[in-house]
Amino acid sequence: MLVAMITAIAHSNIALVKYWGKRDARLNLPAAGSLSLTLGDLTTTTRIAESEQDIVLLGDAPADAAFARRVTAFLDLVAAELGTGRPRFRVETTNDFPTAAGLASSASGFAALTVAACAALRQDVGPQRLSELARRGSGSAARSIPGGWVEMAAGSDPEGHDAFATEIAPEGHWDLRCFVLVTVAGSKATSSTDGMTRTTATSPYYPAWVDSVADDLTQAREAVRQRDFEQLATVAERSCLRMHASALAADPGVLYWNGATVELIHRIRALRRGGQPVFFTIDAGPHVKVFGPAESLAAVRDAASGLVVDLITSAPGGPARLVAR
Ligand code: PMV
Repeated sequence: MLVAMITAIAHSNIALVKYWGKRDARLNLPAAGSLSLTLGDLTTTTRIAESEQDIVLLGDAPADAAFARRVTAFLDLVAAELGTGRPRFRVETTNDFPTAAGLASSASGFAALTVAACAALRQDVGPQRLSELARRGSGSAARSIPGGWVEMAAGSDPEGHDAFATEIAPEGHWDLRCFVLVTVAGSKATSSTDGMTRTTATSPYYPAWVDSVADDLTQAREAVRQRDFEQLATVAERSCLRMHASALAADPGVLYWNGATVELIHRIRALRRGGQPVFFTIDAGPHVKVFGPAESLAAVRDAASGLVVDLITSAPGGPARLVAR
């Protein structure tokens, strides 16, 4: 029997104005908007085909039970949202970068799975709805449906139909590179959802954080449109530090950084003071993501020397898409 195999790819993304906190946990609705760059060299490939039973593979090995449950529950959710039943599927996911180390594998993973699942269910779903569905898997995944420079709307609809991401400038608009400084091997200790939940419930700084996002979004959007590096650097570092400040003030405090993370912040700031156009951002993990032109790579590599176990570079990338049917 010929089994139709569908392949989708999606790229990771890194937020420059951070998402941290939900207005609705069940629908995974963000409390505020966010803004990101799609990373073309950090890619998830998802292959899906009808099967006798649900089988979930990560790389070429069976996924652990928790990962497999997340995937099959998401397939159930997509089918239910689209108002269709679903057959059993064999799902094979491959990341060309380390999984679950704060490198946003859930963003590219759920975006690729959304595109693959909709095609496997033979549903023609537009980008807005794809982003809305991907959001249900992980908030940042909504931003991996469009490509290039992307803004995620918080929306106000209780059902979340206005909480999706759109491209604000295409992939070729501004050739900034992302240099991911991997400070330690292995998975993170506190998931982003757990970190956000604790911050929302216990941090006295959380309301101030949410209030600060609208101005950051306006300034970052403008900086991207004008290709204003200084302005984007200022907003991105501020957004990152305020997000982490709100998490640090939770009870007990949520601390994602290690010693190398802090030292890298100092070194990247020193580089910028010395005239290199680079800035940093940090997600729910200990790695430091540096943005700058391709020419700044050598200086960043030197500055990171002795502090990192890996350095991954990426150019801007395009939207999530089907690559074969
Ligand atoms: O959507 P999640 O659960 O992967 O959360 C993402 C949270 C941050 O990476 C810290 C910030 C962001 O906007 O991507």
